[in-house]
Amino acid sequence: MRSPIHAGAVLLTAVSTVDAASRATHTLPLSAAGDVAAIPAWDVQSSAKITQDPAALSKPGAASTSSSWHHAPVSRCTVMGCLLAAGVYNDSDLFFSDNLAAIDKAQFQVPWLYRSAFSLGGLPVGGSTHYLLETNGITSRADIYINGHQVADKVTQSGAYGGHVYDVTSAVSVGGNTSGNAIVVRAYPTNYLQDFGLGFVDWNPYPPDNGTGVWRDITVRQTGPLAIEAWSVTTNGTSGPVMIKATVRNLETTGSVGVAAEAAVSRDDGSAVATAKIVSPSTPVQLAPGQTTQIVLTADVASPAVWWPRQWGEQPLYKAMLKVSSSSSSSNTTVASDTSTKSFGFRQVTATVSIGDDILFSINGRPFQVLGAGYTPDVFLRWDAARFEAHARYTLDMGLNTIRLEGKMEQPELYKIADRLGLMVLPGWECCDKWEAWSYNDDLPKPVAIWSDADYTTANASMRHEAAMQQNHPSLLGFLVGSDYWPDDRATSIYTKALADAGWQAPIVASAAKAGYPKALGPGGMKMPGPYDWVPPNYWYDITDPATVTDDARYGAAFGFGSEQGPGGGTPTRSSLERFLSAADLDDLWHAPNKGLYHMSTAVSSFHNRSIFNTALWQRYGAPASLDDYLLKTQMADYEATRAEFEGFVANWGSQGAVSADTNSSKRPATGVVYWMLNGAWPALHWALFDYYLHPAGAYYGVKAALGLESVVYDYVRRAVVLVNRSRNQTGVRTVRAELISASDGTVLANVTTDTKEKTLTATPNSSKVVLASIPGIASLKDVGLLRLTLLDGDVYANKILCRNVYWLGAGGRVDTLDWDSSSWFATPVKEYVSFQSLDKLAAANVTVTMTSATTANGTVLLLENHSSVPAVFVSLNLVDAAGNDVTPVSWSDNYITLFPHESRTVTVQDLGLVLGIAERARSTAVQVVGKNVVKATISLA
Ligand SMILES: *[C@@H]1O[C@H](CO)[C@@H](O)[C@H](O)[C@H]1NC(C)=O
Ligand SMILES: *[C@@H]1O[C@H](CO)[C@@H](O)[C@H](O)[C@H]1NC(C)=O
Ligand SMILES: *[C@@H]1O[C@H](CO)[C@@H](O)[C@H](O)[C@H]1NC(C)=O
Ligand SMILES: *[C@@H]1O[C@H](CO)[C@@H](O)[C@H](O)[C@H]1NC(C)=O
Ligand SMILES: *[C@@H]1O[C@H](CO)[C@@H](O)[C@H](O)[C@H]1NC(C)=O
Repeated sequence: MRSPIHAGAVLLTAVSTVDAASRATHTLPLSAAGDVAAIPAWDVQSSAKITQDPAALSKPGAASTSSSWHHAPVSRCTVMGCLLAAGVYNDSDLFFSDNLAAIDKAQFQVPWLYRSAFSLGGLPVGGSTHYLLETNGITSRADIYINGHQVADKVTQSGAYGGHVYDVTSAVSVGGNTSGNAIVVRAYPTNYLQDFGLGFVDWNPYPPDNGTGVWRDITVRQTGPLAIEAWSVTTNGTSGPVMIKATVRNLETTGSVGVAAEAAVSRDDGSAVATAKIVSPSTPVQLAPGQTTQIVLTADVASPAVWWPRQWGEQPLYKAMLKVSSSSSSSNTTVASDTSTKSFGFRQVTATVSIGDDILFSINGRPFQVLGAGYTPDVFLRWDAARFEAHARYTLDMGLNTIRLEGKMEQPELYKIADRLGLMVLPGWECCDKWEAWSYNDDLPKPVAIWSDADYTTANASMRHEAAMQQNHPSLLGFLVGSDYWPDDRATSIYTKALADAGWQAPIVASAAKAGYPKALGPGGMKMPGPYDWVPPNYWYDITDPATVTDDARYGAAFGFGSEQGPGGGTPTRSSLERFLSAADLDDLWHAPNKGLYHMSTAVSSFHNRSIFNTALWQRYGAPASLDDYLLKTQMADYEATRAEFEGFVANWGSQGAVSADTNSSKRPATGVVYWMLNGAWPALHWALFDYYLHPAGAYYGVKAALGLESVVYDYVRRAVVLVNRSRNQTGVRTVRAELISASDGTVLANVTTDTKEKTLTATPNSSKVVLASIPGIASLKDVGLLRLTLLDGDVYANKILCRNVYWLGAGGRVDTLDWDSSSWFATPVKEYVSFQSLDKLAAANVTVTMTSATTANGTVLLLENHSSVPAVFVSLNLVDAAGNDVTPVSWSDNYITLFPHESRTVTVQDLGLVLGIAERARSTAVQVVGKNVVKATISLA
C-alpha cells in the first residue's frame, strides 16, 4: 500500500495515537437524577482471538484487556471505525486506489467484542438509585454483559436502530471503594440481506465489516425510583400551547411510588418563557412496582417566535425541561427522580398529495418546494460534528433546503445542527435489502430473509427509537416509511403507531417511488424514475404533457416530486483526485473512458464505469488533450448538468406550487427534487455535489447558479427566460436582461430587457413565471453562443444585480436530441449531441484577479476582470495554502464564472474551516485561477 501525504483540512482522517487512557477505568460523571453519560472509549477484539467467554470478560479486572486488544478512544465506532481510531488502519491508505478491496473481510464474519471499564460516582437519588443502560442501535445485533451478568441478548438487542433501555442497577457496583464495573458487548456480523443494518446498495464499496458494531453511543443514566421512559414535546402548529407527554415507570420491584411532575419552557438561551401545568392525571398517582403511567402537561407560550427553513427566515429554538419526582404520601415531600430536556421550535409541516399523485409540502402554511440532495454518512459511519456542519452549510450555500437520509439516520447531533441552521431533513428507511424484505418485493437480491415475527419486533423498536430521537426537531420534513417499495400492512401499522405514540407531527410518506402504497397511508406522491447518470440539460424541460404521459419515459423531467434523481456528476478536481488515485488510475480517467473504476459504484452496478458521461463529453466538448483538459471539461459538463436539473424544477414550480398560466406547459408543477446525491461516503468519482475532501467544484457551483433566492433561468426547450422567486416576501420592480454573444469573437447578437414603456416586471414571492417568451438571434447562432441573463433589482437603470447566469449554447440554439423511447431506469440516451468543441479554439482572454481592500463579514473580496474583447470562459478560483494544497471547507460567493468581453465581477471567499473552528486545517495564502481560455495563475493573498 502506498499513500500520498497531503496537508489540509481532512477531518476524520487523523490517525489517533493509542490512547493509554482508553484502557483505564472511565469515571462516568453522574451525580444527579437524570444525568446521562456515554461509555467514552472501547477496547475491541475479534471473538476468534479471545478464548474467555464474554460473561467472564465482563468481570472487573478480567485480565484479557491487555495489549492484544485495540484501544479506540471514541464513544461510538463500528468495528472498522474502532480499528481506524485505534490506528490499525488509516484511511489515506484504505481510500487509495483499490486498497480497500484488499482488506480481509473474513475477519468480520465472526462476532467482535467491545469492552470498557467504568466507575459510577453515584450519589444516592431519591432514596433508591437506578442505573439504566441505554443502547441506540448496535449493528447487527448484540449480547451485552456487565460484571459477569448478561443484561441483554441478541434477540432483543437487534438492528442498527434498535434502541433499548436496560435497568442494570442490580448488576453494577457504585462508589470509589468498589472494584468498578466492566461492560462487554458481543456484536454479531451483519449481512445486509438478513439483518437490519445500514446498507450502501450501489453507492460505493461496502465497508469490510458491513458496519457491524456499536456505531451509536451506549449511555448510562442515573435515576431515582421513577424513570421517564419516553416523552414528546409538541406545538399547536406555529402557536401555543406546547404539550408535553411522558410515560413514567416505577423501576422498583417492591413498594408503590407517588408520581409528581413539572415542566417548563424556555428560550434556547435559557430565558424562561412558561411553566407547564399538569393536565392529566387530574389527581396524584401511585405507581405499583413495574407499572407505568402517562402524564400530560401543557405550557402556554404567548406569541411564540416562529421557526423557518433558512430561505424563509430565522430559526428561533425553545427548550422543554421535564422533571419527575417521587412523592411520599406520608410526608408531603418530593425528591427528584429523573429529568430530561428537549429542544423544539414552533413550525408546522403538512403535505397533500394531489394532481397526478404529486406530494406538495407546506411549511407554516406556505407551499414549500423541496430542493434537496441525498446525504450519506462516512463509509465507516464515523461522525464528526464540524464535518457535518460543513456539509450542512454547503447544502444551504448552494441554495438547497433539504437533505434526504435514506436509512442513514446518523447521530442525534445531526438534527440539532439542522435545527440551528434551518436545513430541512427528510429521513426514512432504506431500500434494497432487509429493510424492504416483503414478499412482493421482486427487486431484492437473493437470498433475502423475508420478515419474520422477530423482524417486525425489531422494526417496531427501530421506529420507536428513531421517532423519539427526531420527533421534537423543527427541521423534520417528514418520514419515509418506505423507499423503493412500500411497507406491508403489518409494518405500516407498526410504523404509524410508533410514530403517533412518539408525538410525531410531520407528514408520514408511504414510499419514495410510485410502485405502490399501503391503503392506510395512501400514495406517497413521490416518483423515482431516474435518471442516475448523465442526461443533457434539455432533459428536464422536455415535458410534452406530463398529465397525459402514459409510459415512464419522461417521468424524470421537472414535474412532480423526484425523490432521487440527477445527471450523475461530481468528478473531483485534480488536487482531490491525486489523494486517492494512483498515476495509472488517473490515466484511466481519460485514456480508458469506458473502463470500470473502483471509485465509481461497485462492479455489479450500472454505475461502475463512466461511459455515458464520457461519451457525451467526447462528443460535446471534444476528445481531451490531457488529464487537465479532461478534468476541466468534466467540470463544465457537471456545472451545466446540475444547474439544468435544479433550474428545471424551480422554473416549473408555478405559483406557490400550483399550475399557473404564466409557467410553461407543465400541467403538473415541480413540487420537489432530491439530487442523487449530496456527498460520497468515501472519495468517489460521481454522485456528489462536492467531494470527500470537501472541495466544491463544477457540480456545486452549477447548483448554486440555479438556486438564488431570486433568479433568472433559461428554459433550453422553449428558449424562454423564467423569473424565479423563492423568497417568502421579496417583492418590487425587477428587470431581466438577456444578452447573447458569439463565443468566438464576442459579437453581440441580442440584447433585450423586460422593461418597456408598456410594462414593468414585479417580483412575486414563492413563484416562477416566464418573462421572456423568446430570445432573438438564438436561431441564427452559427456556432457556440453565450447567453447572459441578469436580474436587476429595479428598472432598467438599476445597478443592483440580484442574479447573473451565463449559458453556453450550441449552434442555432439547438439542444441534444433525446431518444426517449430507449430510456432505462437510469438514463435516457442521446441520439444527436450538441457540439461545444469550438470552445477548444477560443482566443486566450487576459483575466486578472486582485484583492480589494473591502472586507465583509463573509470574507475577502476579490475583483475579477476580463481585459479582452473575447469572453473568458469558465474561470475557476481555488483557495490554496503555501504548498498549493486546497483549503477546505471554503465558501465562494460564485465560482466557475464566464465573463463577457471587458466584464468585471467581484467575488467573496471565506475560509469556512476558520468559521467552524477546525484546528487542523491548511492556512490560505493564495488563489489559483484558471479557465477554459485563461492560463493558470496564482495570486497571493498576502
Ligand atoms: C455483508 O453483507 C453481504 C450481503 O449484503 C454479504 O454477502 C457479506 O458476506 C457480508 N459481509 C460480512 C463481512 O459479513
Ligand atoms: C391551536 O391553534 C388553532 C389556531 O391555529 C386554534 O384555533 C386552536 O384553538 C389551538 N388549540 C389549542 C388547544 O389552543
Ligand atoms: C420577510 O422575510 C424575512 C426572512 O426572509 C423576515 O425576516 C421578515 O420579517 C419578513 N418580513 C415580513 C414583512 O414578513
Ligand atoms: C400535606 O399537605 C396538605 C396540604 O398542604 C396538608 O393538609 C396535609 O396535612 C399534609 N400532610 C402531611 C403528612 O404533612
Ligand atoms: C446591452 O445593452 C445595455 C444597455 O444599453 C448595455 O449597457 C450593455 O452593455 C449591452 N450589452 C452588450 C453585451 O453589449
